[in-house]
Amino acid sequence: MKQKIQEKFKALFGEEGVLYASAGRINLIGEHTDYNGGYVFPGAIDCGIMAAIKVNGTPKVKVFSLDYNESAEFGLNEEDVPDKQWARYIFGVCRETIKRGGKVEGFNAVFAGDVPLGAGLSSSAALESCFAFALNDIFGNGIDKFELAKIGQSTEHNYCGVKCGIMDQFASVFGKEGALIRLNCKTLEYKYFPFHPKGYKLVLIDSCVKHELASSAYNKRRASCENAAAAIRKNHPEVEFLSDAKRVWLDEVREQIPEEDFLRAEYVIGEVQRVLDVCDALERDDYETVGEMMYQTHFGLSRLYEVSCEELDFLNKLARKMDVTGSRVMGGGFGGCTINLVKEELYDGFIAAAKEQFAAKFGHAPKIYDVVISDGARKL
Ligand code: GLA
Repeated sequence: MKQKIQEKFKALFGEEGVLYASAGRINLIGEHTDYNGGYVFPGAIDCGIMAAIKVNGTPKVKVFSLDYNESAEFGLNEEDVPDKQWARYIFGVCRETIKRGGKVEGFNAVFAGDVPLGAGLSSSAALESCFAFALNDIFGNGIDKFELAKIGQSTEHNYCGVKCGIMDQFASVFGKEGALIRLNCKTLEYKYFPFHPKGYKLVLIDSCVKHELASSAYNKRRASCENAAAAIRKNHPEVEFLSDAKRVWLDEVREQIPEEDFLRAEYVIGEVQRVLDVCDALERDDYETVGEMMYQTHFGLSRLYEVSCEELDFLNKLARKMDVTGSRVMGGGFGGCTINLVKEELYDGFIAAAKEQFAAKFGHAPKIYDVVISDGARKL
């Protein structure tokens, strides 16, 4: 990929650029907890975005996407927002850097990626983090790593219409080879956990479906959680985020909020605790508990949070049937992948069955990705 990017950069701009890279992410557990001030437990993976970049001495940004085989050119003022979605991510990162007092001037860039799109592996966070990191380095802005992650998150909020939490961009910026990171999304305290489950594999099964309107459904889930938190806050003013609430406090307001909001909140409160339970279990090498928590998360995401779909429920059920230790829908939902913790000796049989039975039912094969936990944003 490096070579292709540099060749294209040379062909377009007559020289080579400086190379930067960033990563997609997985999340072991802690889904839809980030914007509720709870815990998440992600790690960066060995696929991501790579870009060659060089300042061009003009007021314009000229970018070429190798994957879309398209170029975009835009200025750096608020009204210069480009039409193409992929270019908006880069534009957003430039604008959010400038809004934070950073310097950004015109530059040339060529980029490519190998994060599967729409699989819930945060290709967009990888793109944002790659450019946020690179611009910070090139223009010597000295913005700290958390703020780089927030630049990506604000890009989603302000230029892409998704009111996401901080997890994806955090993992993409802070990711470290061989380690998962538990992040408290309220205090932003984090801890690296070496993750080398002996005798197990972590594998993603991509349903290759992406249901429409995922971003508006996502924003709706967030609004339900905020509504539930606001109701609880009336009785318990210390509740800043839903994750601060005790389960019994939610019961107190059951009649005051729509049933749907109640169910969403019930899921979130349970999920925050499950992340802590999984971290404890990992410290004892107790993978059975880790796996059981993953199944509980799937149940919650499917029945209470309602972000699963037929294809993902099918894969989850099959995993259970085949004695896979843990399995659940990963990421925002509405399609994408399940993440599976599977004993090495069961791996081949499970993958073969998943491919065959999924294809027989849905008419297309799923894709399989073995998870390799890797480094996040960096200069190459
Ligand atoms: C998406 C968002 C994240 C997070 C997950 C669900 O990936 O970008 O902030 O909310 O969904 O856990």
